[in-house]
Amino acid sequence: MNGSAIPVVAYGALFLLGGLLALALIVRGDLVPDRVAGGGGRLMLGAALGFGLVSIAVKLAVIVVLATFPRQFIDGQLPTAGERLERAARQHARSASPLIVAAAKPVPEARKWYPLPATAPAPPDNPSMPARVALGRRLFHDANLSADRTVSCASCHDVTAGAGGDGRPVALGVGGQAGTRNAPTVYNAAFQARLFWDGRAGSLEEQASGPLLNPVEMGMASPADIEARVREDEAYRPLFDAAFEAGAPVTIDGIVKAIAAYERTLVSNDAPYDRFVAGDEDALTFAQKRGMALFLSLGCRQCHAGPNFSGASLVGPKAVYRPFSVSRSPRAIAFGLGDDKGRAGADAASGVWRVPSLRNVALTAPYFHNGAVDDLAGAVRIMAATQLNALVGEAGEPPEMELRWSAATRTLETIERTRVTDRDVADLVAFLEALSGDRLASRMGADGQAYGAIK
Ligand code: HEC
Ligand code: HEC
Repeated sequence: MNGSAIPVVAYGALFLLGGLLALALIVRGDLVPDRVAGGGGRLMLGAALGFGLVSIAVKLAVIVVLATFPRQFIDGQLPTAGERLERAARQHARSASPLIVAAAKPVPEARKWYPLPATAPAPPDNPSMPARVALGRRLFHDANLSADRTVSCASCHDVTAGAGGDGRPVALGVGGQAGTRNAPTVYNAAFQARLFWDGRAGSLEEQASGPLLNPVEMGMASPADIEARVREDEAYRPLFDAAFEAGAPVTIDGIVKAIAAYERTLVSNDAPYDRFVAGDEDALTFAQKRGMALFLSLGCRQCHAGPNFSGASLVGPKAVYRPFSVSRSPRAIAFGLGDDKGRAGADAASGVWRVPSLRNVALTAPYFHNGAVDDLAGAVRIMAATQLNALVGEAGEPPEMELRWSAATRTLETIERTRVTDRDVADLVAFLEALSGDRLASRMGADGQAYGAIK
C-alpha cells in the first residue's frame, strides 16, 4: 500500500466508528418520536438517520484528509523545481521568438505575401529569346501597323514615359475614334492568365491580333494586310531571320509571337511592396502596412490575390472572373459602371469581369473598365461598397449606421456590416501606391501623370 494512503484509511476508519456508534445509540435510545407507526417504523427511521450520519462521517474524513495532506497526495504529479524552470524557459522562448511559434503552428497560405517573380512564364512554343524580344519591341512601336499609319500599340500603351497605359478614360484609335473601354497597362500583363477587362483572350499571343484588327483601334483589314505592312519595311528582314530562322516567312503568327515575347519583358517587380516582403521592413510606411493588413482582413485579397494582385494571374491563387455588384453603390451607378456587363452579356442583371491586377494602379488612372473614376480613393470606396458590401462614408464623414425598423417585432435593429472609414480608405490607397514599380514611378509625377516624353 502507498504510504500516503495510510492517513486516509485511518481517518476514514475513525469517522466510520463514530458513525456506527451514533447509529447504535439512536437505535437503542428514544430519539424517534412515538407518532411513527409501529416498532418496525421506529427501527427503520433510526437506521436511516444512522446511515445518514455514517455517510456524512465518510465525507468529512475525505475532506479532512484532502485539506490536511494535499502534498502527500499530489506531490508525485507536481513538477520539480527543475521542470518548472524548464517550462518557464520554453514559454519565454516561445513568446520572444515568432520563429518558434511559426514552427509550432504552420501559417495558412491565405495569410502569406509573396513578391512578383522577376520573369513571366513563357509558353514552350515561344521562348523569350533576345532576338524575338527585339523584333517585338519594334513591332510594338510601329505605327505602320495601323490602317492610317498613325497608331501603334505604344500610342495607347505608353511604355516610354508612362506606366503602360494612356491616361485617358477610353482609348483613342485610328481616325481619333474613341473605344468604349479603358486601356489597361501592359506592364505585368505577361503574368495574367486571361487578358482584356472581360478576360476574352487566353494569352498575349492570342491578345495581340485583337487591337491590330479592331476597327476603332489599329483598324487593319486582315492578317494578310498586317503581314504586307511588315514586309514592305526592309529593316524587318534581318530581325525576322534572327528571331525565327534564316528566311523565315513574315506571318501573323510570327508577328504576334514577337510582340508577346517583348511584352513578357515588361515586368515591374521593383515596388516598395516587393522590397518589404523580401525583408526590408522600412520599405513601407506605417500607413502602408496598415493598408496592407486591411487589404487582407477586409477581403480585397480574395479577388486581387497573389503577387500580381489579381486572381486571374498565372501566379498565385485563382479567382478569375467576378461580378461587379454596382447595385450596392449609388456612386458606382452614377459613374455608369453598370452599363457595360462585360462577359455576362448585355441582358445580365450585373456585370462579370476578369479581376484586374492592382500593380502600378496608382500610376494608371482613370479607373475601371470605362475609365470613369479619376481618383484611386474613389475607386477604393466603390470597391469596398460593391465587392465587400461594406458601409463606406463620404470623404470627411464616418460611415453611417444601417438601421432597420421591424414592425413585426416592434424593434429597431442595427444591421451589422463592415465599416470602412476615411482613414481605412487613405491607408488602402497608401498600400496600393506601394505596388508601383520604382522605375515606373520615378518617370511619373505623384499624381500618376507622365512628365513629357522621356526617351
Ligand atoms: C487604340 C488604343 C489601343 C491600341 C492601339 C492598342 N491597345 Fe491594347 N488595349 C487597349 C484597350 C482599350 C484595351 C482593353 C480592351 C478590352 O478589355 O476590351 C487593351 C488591352 C490590351 C491588353 C490586355 C491587358 C490586360 O491586362 O488585360 C494588352 C496586353 C494589350 N492591349 C496589348 C496591345 C498590343 C500588343 C497592341 C498593339 C498590337 C495594342 N494593345 C494596341 C487599347 C489599345
Ligand atoms: C469580389 C471580388 C473583388 C473584391 C473583393 C475586390 N475587388 Fe477590386 N476589382 C474587382 C473587379 C472584378 C474589378 C474590375 C471592375 C471593372 O472595372 O469592371 C476590380 C477593380 C478594382 C480597381 C480598379 C482597377 C483599375 O485598374 O481600374 C481597384 C483600384 C480595386 N479593384 C481595388 C480593390 C480594393 C482596394 C478592394 C478591397 C477594398 C477590392 N478591390 C476588392 C474585384 C474585386
